[in-house]
Amino acid sequence: MTHNLLDGKRGIIFGALNSKSLAWAVAKQCVAEGAKLVLTNTPIALRLGQIQQLAQETHSAIITADATNTDDLQHLFIEAQNILDGKIDFVLHAVAMSQNIRRGKAYQEADYNYMQQTLDISALSFHKLLQTAYQLDALNEYASVVALTYIAAQRAFQGYNDMADAKALLESIARNFGMIYGRQKRVRINTVSQSPTPTTAGTSIGNGVDRFFEISDHTSPLGNANQQDCANFCVILFSDYTRKVTMQNLYHDGGFSTTGIQLP
Ligand SMILES: NC(=O)c1ccc[n+]([C@@H]2O[C@H](COP(=O)([O-])OP(=O)(O)OC[C@H]3O[C@@H](n4cnc5c(N)ncnc54)[C@H](O)[C@@H]3O)[C@@H](O)[C@H]2O)c1
Repeated sequence: MTHNLLDGKRGIIFGALNSKSLAWAVAKQCVAEGAKLVLTNTPIALRLGQIQQLAQETHSAIITADATNTDDLQHLFIEAQNILDGKIDFVLHAVAMSQNIRRGKAYQEADYNYMQQTLDISALSFHKLLQTAYQLDALNEYASVVALTYIAAQRAFQGYNDMADAKALLESIARNFGMIYGRQKRVRINTVSQSPTPTTAGTSIGNGVDRFFEISDHTSPLGNANQQDCANFCVILFSDYTRKVTMQNLYHDGGFSTTGIQLP
């Protein structure tokens, strides 16, 4: 279903690795709604992933950038404005990685170099992205920036490990930068707290991952929000229908976050 909600808008999408990625579905829905895009990911993701296919399908350019590297981010924002012929209207941050999770290091046995990397890639990159855009004045008035997060920022979830700390920081950055960017440039900044979704990052959270999805699905009165649901919600947040929504952490989780005990 399309409604041209993003007609003529210019966007940058971080984090599409393969067709399971949340960013993949967001990119496709944005283009279906009339947007023009630049896609970005790391050089290694370009080699190992399928982003070229997405670029073809969405008629988008790809600019490589490590989201932790401010020189890369500067290049990205300057080039994206050239390619799209104007300032940017929306940005999706869908970037996360934890070596502690990947290497099976439990939270209470964290490797601190890995932990710093987790925070840098999964949270500080959001500050770097925003600061770069702010300093270059690369975003239009009422532009919308969305980062994807998870409820492990508020509650303890076994196995979510140091990513929980990263998500708490990510959401805090959205609030604090949102206040400054909103006042000065009318830019909106929000986080979307998405249901567990079977993506590459989403299935790396360790043993029992199937149970994790299942329990969440069962607990949520509407069931888990899936990849396409996430794309549709992001489109609304990028659209002009949410111009006064900012500095929010918006649960997109089928009701999971406010459910207590349900009787069978
Ligand atoms: N899948 C879920 O269950 C779920 C739930 C809530 C939130 N999220 C969040 O959604 C976002 C997208 O993850 P996903 O589930 O689609 O998985 P994914 O593995 O498809 O996407 C993660 C992306 O991060 C990119 N990335 C890693 N390091 C990077 C760096 N240094 N610079 C730039 N990009 C880098 C990867 O290349 C990849 O494209 C993440 O922030 C994730 O935490 C996922």
